[in-house]
Amino acid sequence: MKVDSAGSPQVVKLSFVLIIFFAINAYPLERNLIINVDHRTTVSLNGKWHVIIDPYENGYYDYRYLPSKNGYFKNAKARNKTDLVEYDFDKSEVLNVPGDWNSQQEKLFFYEGTIWYKKSFDYLRKESQVRKDSQGGQRDPKTRVFVYFGAANYHSIVYLNGQKLGEHVGGFTPFNFEITRLVREKDNFLIVKVDNKRLREGVPTVNTDWWNYGGLTRRVELIEVPETFIRDYFIQLKRGSLKTVAGWIQLDGKQTSQAITVEIPKANVKQTFNTNADGYVEFEFDAELQLWSPDNPRLYDVLIKSQTDSLTDSVGFRSIETEGTKILLNGKPIFLRGVCIHEQAPKSKARAYSKEHAETLLGWAKEMNCNFVRLAHYPHNEYMPRTADRLGMLVWSEIPVYWTILWENESTLKNALNQLTEMITRDKNRASIILWSVANETPVGDARNEFLKTLVERAKSLDPTRLITAAMEKSYQGRNKPVINDPFGQYVDVLGCNQYIGWYEGLPDRCDLYTWGTIYDKPVIISEFGGGALGGFHADKDTRWSEEYQEYLYEKQIKMLEKVPFMAGTSPWILTDFMSPRRPLPRIQDYWNRKGLISDKGKKKKAFYVMQRFYEKHKSFDPAQDGQNEQ
Ligand code: GCU
Repeated sequence: MKVDSAGSPQVVKLSFVLIIFFAINAYPLERNLIINVDHRTTVSLNGKWHVIIDPYENGYYDYRYLPSKNGYFKNAKARNKTDLVEYDFDKSEVLNVPGDWNSQQEKLFFYEGTIWYKKSFDYLRKESQVRKDSQGGQRDPKTRVFVYFGAANYHSIVYLNGQKLGEHVGGFTPFNFEITRLVREKDNFLIVKVDNKRLREGVPTVNTDWWNYGGLTRRVELIEVPETFIRDYFIQLKRGSLKTVAGWIQLDGKQTSQAITVEIPKANVKQTFNTNADGYVEFEFDAELQLWSPDNPRLYDVLIKSQTDSLTDSVGFRSIETEGTKILLNGKPIFLRGVCIHEQAPKSKARAYSKEHAETLLGWAKEMNCNFVRLAHYPHNEYMPRTADRLGMLVWSEIPVYWTILWENESTLKNALNQLTEMITRDKNRASIILWSVANETPVGDARNEFLKTLVERAKSLDPTRLITAAMEKSYQGRNKPVINDPFGQYVDVLGCNQYIGWYEGLPDRCDLYTWGTIYDKPVIISEFGGGALGGFHADKDTRWSEEYQEYLYEKQIKMLEKVPFMAGTSPWILTDFMSPRRPLPRIQDYWNRKGLISDKGKKKKAFYVMQRFYEKHKSFDPAQDGQNEQ
């Protein structure tokens, strides 16, 4: 451990605490995210957008490298033959939105930098009685309009009609800006500078084992809401209860004090509450509900009505707890039959973004007899948890605090806190999500522990109903005695452990030698294991990259893991091959991580069936506790 000139570890410790203190207080919780966009009045801006590829950020900085007042966000046009304008969006090429840029054009495959996106649109408000003012703008509208981005990787600066709306950092969570006073009926131009440059202080930082897809990777919508609208709400079962529903509702607008009704018609629930002067109300009530579970993914229509707005959502109610090394769903032990998934579109080099992508990926997991998926290593698009709700698939959702980020950097912590907050804000009403993960394979150390502890505290303050976890690494207490003893384990509810015995660590037979241990009386999910295979390449079981090697490795892993008494679940790495710049091996990898159980062509590899059989067996008993009933 590094000790500074003052020499005492206490001094080092104090500096972390100060960084944490300033980071949290200097950057309070930003709460303007609008949730449940699917059930609101929206106009999609998806489709073709004109783009300008700008590696030198010439559209943003002047030649003195100072932000220019006349950047590309002005969407300038030469008005006459003497005018000098050196860009023209409308004559420029187009890209599809949603969609990463890397898979859309060969020349952009490795591109990391800035691309400017422009979308022109007319916008007629739903509410027709809006009076026009002399400048063609609207005054005192009865409704408000927001522009909403499902996600954009990585740093976005957004402008409407030449005016800056704001910025967003982080490639995997939604954000929105109000445009009520800026949007006009005709000829609006929305311009977004998207920069996916990797940054050492970033989250994630500069090295990841997934492709750094850039662009407007998820949907873009215009949302129209009443002047005072229901912006955010939380409705789930109260922690530790199977019948008490608890939550809160946040209005946004001038009419803050309102009567609000929460209705669950199919459960004969109709409750009314009053918001306070901040437009906020907390509530609790008992209800007879069919509990949501993988075998019975029962969703209820929930209607939230205020005097000025109303919103429906489709919500499942279930409880999730731990008891010693067991995970309890609705009070009963459950074994998580899982698999990891990257946001890789099926059979494609592109990043996934659509409902169909979600249905295919989760459909494959169902086929493998899974009841659980680990969405790695960042929040996936909203279709994933919503489809998991419908299909009955439990979900681990994670923020990209991945490998070795800058633990002592204040903006890095703020960034991670923000991504965590946005992830939880968007998905906290999804029954499928049972675990929030704050990190993957991060190095043990004081600064890291403090950093991650702060994330855990934030997650618990935002959502007291779910379990907190992280994917950690094992160490050894003697030869062949892997042990889970990461000091950060004390702060989480469930321990994730990634291990690659038989791939990065020896050959598959090595699994026979190992006896696992843990210092915690907590559930453990083996959150990664596996090895690579080129789909369709067949050889003997000792030949790496063959399907037979991967198959044999899985058989050996399962035999080893079935003996682990404190294991509450497994999620092998990974459902499908996925793109990674760290995998250049010609004619085997070609920039694909080949650890998928399904190839990039959508073909199942032999190891897929090993897991399918293991999970089939699991459906009837818990491998660790033979004979104990479970779901
Ligand atoms: C790591 C990591 C993954 C990575 C995998 C691999 O454990 O968490 O992101 O892709 O190993 O090496 O394939």
